[in-house]
Amino acid sequence: MGGFELRWVVRVTVVLMMVPKILGWGKEGHYVICKIAEEYLTEDALAAVRELLPDQTEGDLAAVCSWADEVKHHYPYYRWSSPLHYVDTPDFLCNYKYCRDCHDGHRHKDRCVTGAIYNYSMQLSQGYYDLNSEKYNLTEALMFLSHFVGDVHQPLHVGFTGDVGGNTIIVRWYRRKTNLHHVWDTMIIESALKTYYKSDLTLMIQALLRNITDEWSDDVPSWENCKKMICPDPYASESVRLACKFAYRNATPGSTLGDDYFLSRLPVVEKRLAQSGIRLAEVLNRIFSKQPFAAQ
Ligand SMILES: *[C@@H]1O[C@H](CO)[C@@H](O)[C@H](O)[C@H]1NC(C)=O
Ligand SMILES: *[C@@H]1O[C@H](CO)[C@@H](O)[C@H](O)[C@H]1NC(C)=O
Ligand SMILES: *[C@@H]1O[C@H](CO)[C@@H](O)[C@H](O)[C@H]1NC(C)=O
Repeated sequence: MGGFELRWVVRVTVVLMMVPKILGWGKEGHYVICKIAEEYLTEDALAAVRELLPDQTEGDLAAVCSWADEVKHHYPYYRWSSPLHYVDTPDFLCNYKYCRDCHDGHRHKDRCVTGAIYNYSMQLSQGYYDLNSEKYNLTEALMFLSHFVGDVHQPLHVGFTGDVGGNTIIVRWYRRKTNLHHVWDTMIIESALKTYYKSDLTLMIQALLRNITDEWSDDVPSWENCKKMICPDPYASESVRLACKFAYRNATPGSTLGDDYFLSRLPVVEKRLAQSGIRLAEVLNRIFSKQPFAAQ
């Protein structure tokens, strides 16, 4: 046991010190999503989450919401998890279908972000009632699930196969050369932070929380509408529609994206962050409710 804890300390310290190259909603995006989720967790869910989180996080879920990106990049052992961050759809079809699309590059079924969300929510709900079971590592399941619920809301994590979700579309973000996927993971959020929030993530989170209770309060019940334990398929469908309508539009290879693009897309990003946070809280509340959720 002592050995296991020590390993954790070393690993977490390494992860926290690294400044990783960011993929997946950037580090900021995932942090925002998990901070919002924390505000909406029930007492039961909060207690369960705290029990599963590594000690070094001091009970803060947001501290591990980029863990899945970090291990993917820095530990060869976790390379198998790379295809679980996204799902690609056929080029120029603005819809998503689990059976057709959820596979990795070798066409292994279920190996995509929605498959992973089913996988890890199932592990948590089964494992939670059988804590002595060593079948699953529930700490990892929680860290993966919290991350992938974020990813499935990033429109270009449900983008076209041919351009790898915008990764091969080279554009300029103002004067900086980058790719469209990265614009949606990171640049829009970073520009918003600088322009509106004095580069202070806390201010952005507060603004989103205010909109959830205010501007968007009539919509929030529909975000939560899910008759099963979790509903990643509609979230993926929403994402690819937003990818077509907002992300790909006017962002052809070589284009320069500036104020017009930024100002019209930022509201989409903001709402996706909020939806993702609310839905992450919802699924954790269902999984960790004292009243076991009826089998799916
Ligand atoms: C569970 O996963 C965490 C994070 O990767 C790891 O530190 C821990 O050693 C694992 N627990 C077991 C019992 O393998
Ligand atoms: C499900 O979780 C296990 C444990 O992390 C992993 O080995 C497997 O690849 C996962 N499968 C999917 C589809 O997420
Ligand atoms: C909050 O909602 C208003 C009105 O829709 C919008 O202009 C603003 O950008 C939103 N802010 C955030 C952080 O979502």
